[in-house]
Formats: sequence, structure tokens, C-alpha cells
Amino acid sequence: MTPPRTPKIPYGGDYNPEQWPQEVWDEDHRLFTEAGIDTLTVGVFSWALTQPAEETYDFTVLDRIVDRAAAEGRRVCIATGTAALPPWLAKRHPEVNRTDFEGRRHRYGQRHNFCPSSPAYKCAAAALADRLAERYAGHSALLAWHINNEYGGACYCDLCADAFRTWLRDRHGTLDALNDAWWTAFWSHRYTDWDQIEPPSALTEHWRGPDHTAFQGITLDYHRFTTDALLGCFLAEKEAIRAHDPDTPVTTNFMGMFRPLDYHRWAPHLDFASWDSYPPLDAPPTVAALAHDLMRGLKDGAPFWLMEQTPSTTACRDVNPLRRPGELRLATYQAIAHGADAALYFQMRASRGACEKYHGAVIGHAGRADTRVFQEVAAVGEELRILGGATLGARTPARTALLFDWDSWWALEMSDGPSRLVRYQEVVHAYYRAARQAGADVDVVPVTARLTPYDVVLAPLLYMVKDDLAARLEAVTARGGTVLATFLSGRVDAHDRAFLTDVPGPLAPLTGVRVDEWDARREEVVNPVHLDGGFTADARLVFEIVRPRGAEPVGTYGADFYAGTPAVTRHRVGEGEAWYVATALDQPGVDHVVRRVLARHGLVGPYADHTAVETAHRVAPDGTRLLLLLNHAPEPAHLTAHAPATDLLTGEHTERDEPFTLDPLGVAVLRLQ
Ligand code: GLA
Ligand code: ZN
Repeated sequence: MTPPRTPKIPYGGDYNPEQWPQEVWDEDHRLFTEAGIDTLTVGVFSWALTQPAEETYDFTVLDRIVDRAAAEGRRVCIATGTAALPPWLAKRHPEVNRTDFEGRRHRYGQRHNFCPSSPAYKCAAAALADRLAERYAGHSALLAWHINNEYGGACYCDLCADAFRTWLRDRHGTLDALNDAWWTAFWSHRYTDWDQIEPPSALTEHWRGPDHTAFQGITLDYHRFTTDALLGCFLAEKEAIRAHDPDTPVTTNFMGMFRPLDYHRWAPHLDFASWDSYPPLDAPPTVAALAHDLMRGLKDGAPFWLMEQTPSTTACRDVNPLRRPGELRLATYQAIAHGADAALYFQMRASRGACEKYHGAVIGHAGRADTRVFQEVAAVGEELRILGGATLGARTPARTALLFDWDSWWALEMSDGPSRLVRYQEVVHAYYRAARQAGADVDVVPVTARLTPYDVVLAPLLYMVKDDLAARLEAVTARGGTVLATFLSGRVDAHDRAFLTDVPGPLAPLTGVRVDEWDARREEVVNPVHLDGGFTADARLVFEIVRPRGAEPVGTYGADFYAGTPAVTRHRVGEGEAWYVATALDQPGVDHVVRRVLARHGLVGPYADHTAVETAHRVAPDGTRLLLLLNHAPEPAHLTAHAPATDLLTGEHTERDEPFTLDPLGVAVLRLQ
């Protein structure tokens, strides 16, 4: 399944009119029309309203909300509303509240806090989804089902402990297998009964928080279990919906690079992916782009929905900067450039009270249409009307893949040694950024993805190597492609046990290197790496000492007792190449290496010298080739057209080699000829 079929990009967002009297609704709809808003996500936090008591359901208000939207010609995404518990449920069944990492059983409060193993929660949530689906399936306004909201977090209660043990039996089969996987001979941990196993928490295997564990194997399995336990909640609701509604697409809103849940395990169960983008506003644009591409990779490159973004500010951070004029438009087109088939906001009208009253909204407390934010939202609404369905269903024709692996992320960041300073997202982002700024379209894919469409496979920090991955990477080079791996790759198997071979384990034959030793230093310690062409990069954090076994050096360390030994290598294998970067190069160093790799396949884009100009291709279902250009700089970008093209937003045509200008923070949606 794909996202819901619509004639244009759905535009709108989270709408909570249950907080307001009816007069306000009239005003809302008048303003929605003015801003080109056609899609509303409703009911996300309305459990206490739709089910005021265990035996009582009351859909009066939700009926009115949905019917009113329909009467106004708008479509709705109906949420099941099961992410915030109603007080009666928590009071009646205290076990629905989570037990935290420190072992404290929580009492009623907040949201996103239900125990995923509690039958009382799961039954009540599925029952509510069942009632909603029974009532609204077939409603003319219904566009999609939105289950729960931003699943996340973990619970350490006794119900979860039992569920974990059951999960472990399924995964490992026998206690012997489990003892072997977790290497329990270490520190006298040999389990002789499943009941002896406790969830890994501050009371058991951990110290100094969730990343410091005595046994990586159990903690890794608890992350996987939590992923599956929450997925079980999603599936219970989805099943309830499907009993009444076999067709309407179902999703839940993800959070991009969110460490606690392995979204790749969820992806097959969603009809389409959707996510909430709240990048730190001072982050480079490639941070949001990476998350978009990760989300697009969930459904094998199919478009996703941007389910939330703020029109102006967030509220939850200590300091919440405002989106500058033009930034909202730019962020919206960036999402579209990376595969978003919807552009939705949190939120349509600002809440009057509680912790999100200062969160940005399309309509503020004063209800005005003449604010800058409303005007910008309305201008984007008008443009999306003009754009119509041109980008819908379009795919990204990427020839570069970047492997993203939650298991590697978890295992690396909970490892004692070599360094706590290596952060998975940062290293992955550095390689992604290098490829994107060179103008390559990048698919961010799971390690299980089919690699045959790609010329280049970037595998930064591929710490864990599972199944047949090494062989599939070898197949890439065998047919002439290039694979790039980095330090701290090929270290552990699926259970976090070291390989009993030379580092980088199963990647050693491919990369043609052997690593016996590694040096980890504080951030201040820099080792210069001399690359070809007289270019020197700074390297930090971890310095692996490489002994080439077939690979040739491309860069060498400049300092310390390993000065002169290889820091970057290239192994020519078959028609292809395997690169190994043995240290954390700075961004210019990563850029240098990645550009060389991309250049080999003609993948450096025509605007690569304009570092502030982001490019992204999409190919529409009818074969139309689109190129989105995004100028992230506050100055104009003067470009020379590389191909004849027409801008779908302005109708302007540019011939090949003709100069054209992108405004500061400007955007072009080009149809290429
Ligand atoms: C999340 C939630 C919303 C809201 C926003 C605020 O994305 O899904 O309910 O809390 O954050 O940024
Ligand atoms: Zn629990």
C-alpha cells in the first residue's frame, strides 16, 4: 500500500477543536479555507472525551468534528487517540502505568506512558480503535488512520519482565542458546531458569544510565523486545481497524532518527510511513534531510507523509527559536524533495493552557489571519494548490545507498570501549552530508535492503554485521560498484559478540585490511590525515591502526607512533572498489573521500560547487523527471541551468546553460526536459 490517493499534497495538520467552543470552529474553518488547508488530523488526544468511563463511549463531539470537516470539503486523518491515557483507566488498572528504568511504578500523569505489556491497556486501546473504525469506516472525509502517537519509551514492570521472558524463549529457543548469545560465563551469569532473567535496568545490569550495561546482549535484546512490544500495541489496534475497514491506509507518526525504536522492524506493518520533523533549528539542513530519507527508506522508497512540523516554534526545548521568514516554506519543500506526499503541521490552533500553549500554531491565541506565520502558511497553501499532484507518488532515483542500522546504533553506543565519544548519528550524518552536498540522491536503507540498484554503498559505523550482509556488499564491488566502510565496523555479531577473526570481521576480505589495534583519544587530540592531492584533514576520537592486506593507502596518519601508516585505504576488488576509513575524519575530510567515491560513478551533481544549494530528484509515476532546488543560504544563488527545465511554481522556462537565480531561501520545482 502507498499513502492515501489525493489530487494534491494534503495540507493541514493536528486539529483539536474539542478544546474550544463551536464559535471558534466557525472561525477555524474560515481561516483554513483562507490558508488552503484541506486535511486535518483529529482525535489524537481525545480518549477521555470519546470514552469517559470504562463502559461508556461518546462520539458526539468527534462526530461533529468529522462531519463539519466533511461539510467544509476537508479530509481527515482519524487518530485512535490511545497515546494519552484517560484518568479512569489508570485509576482502575494501575498496571497500565509504566515502571521506569529506576524501578518506580508511575502514577497517573502525562502521556506516551502506558505499559505495552499490560492487557488492560492493550484491550482498552484495541476496543477504542474498534469502536472508531466501526463508526467512521466509509465516512466520506476519512483519508487515513493514525494509530496512537509517537510510540516510544520502555517499561520495566513485572508484566514486561514476563513478556520479555516469553520473547526470549521465542528468540533463543533454549537457555543454552541464550547463555551462549549473552556470553553469561562472564561474571557468573549462567541462567538455569527463565524466571531468573530480569529486565536490564538501573536495579539490575546497569549503572550510570541506559547506555552502561554489564551485558550488552541482554540490553540489546531488551531494545528489540521493547520495539516488538510497542509494535504489538500498534498491531492490536490495526487489526481492530481492519475488521471494519479493509482499505483505508493506516500509519503511525514516527520521529525520524529516534534511537529507542527500530523502525525497520515496524515498517512492513505500516501502510505508509509518516513522521514528525522537529530538527534543532540551528542544525545543518542535511540533518532533517537525513531523517526524511531514512523515513522514505522504510517503505522501499515509497513516499511518506510529513505528519507534523511546526509553523514557527517548538515549546519543549529550553530555548525555542523562531523559524525565520521563508524557513517554513523551505522546510516544506525540503520534505517534498525527499519524498513527502503530505505537508502537515502541529498544530492548527494554539492550545490555551498546559505545556504546549506557546508551541507554534497556524492560528494563534488571538485568532488572527494577519500574522506573519499565518500569511506564510497561506502562501505555501496557495503554492501547493498550484503544484497540484505533480510530485505525488514520485520516487527518488538514487544510485547511492547509505546503510542505517538500529542494532549497530544501540550496540555501539552501549559499548564499553573503545570510546564513548563516537556517536552513531554524527558519523552517519557526516557521510550522508558529504554525499548530499556533492549532489547525490541518497537512499537511506536497512542492512537487509536489496543493494542491486546502487553504484555506491556507504556503510559508516557498521558496527554489527549480520546474516549475509558481507556477501551482499561483496556483490556490489564484484559488479563494479563501490563500498565505503569506516572505523568501528565489522566488530560484533547479532548478539554483540566479537568476531573471532581479524577486525573488521566479515568485512576484512572486502576491505582488504587487518586492524589489530586502535587508539581512542579525547576530542582535543587531533591526528592530521594526509590524503591524496596534498589535502590534509583532521581526525579525532578513534584511530585504528591498519595493516593493508590487499588494499592500498589513500591517506596516512601524520602523527604519533603510527604516523605514516594508512588511515584511509582503497581495495580494488573485481571491477569495483572497497574503501576503508579507519578514523573519524572531520567534515572536509569526509567530503574529500566521498566525492572521490561518487566521482568514480559520475554521481557528483551539476550544482555541487554551490554548497548551500540542495538538489533532489524525483521521478513521477508517469515518468516525468523533477528536480527540486533549495537554496539554504540567506543570499541569492546564481546558477547556470544544466538542462532545459520549467519551474512548476512560476511557469518560467530555462534553457540549458542559461543563468538563473534562486532567491535567498528560495525554491524551484523543475520539470526537466
Ligand atoms: C509531537 C507530538 C505532538 C506535539 C508536538 C509538539 O510531535 O506528536 O502531540 O506534542 O510534538 O512539538
Ligand atoms: Zn510494563
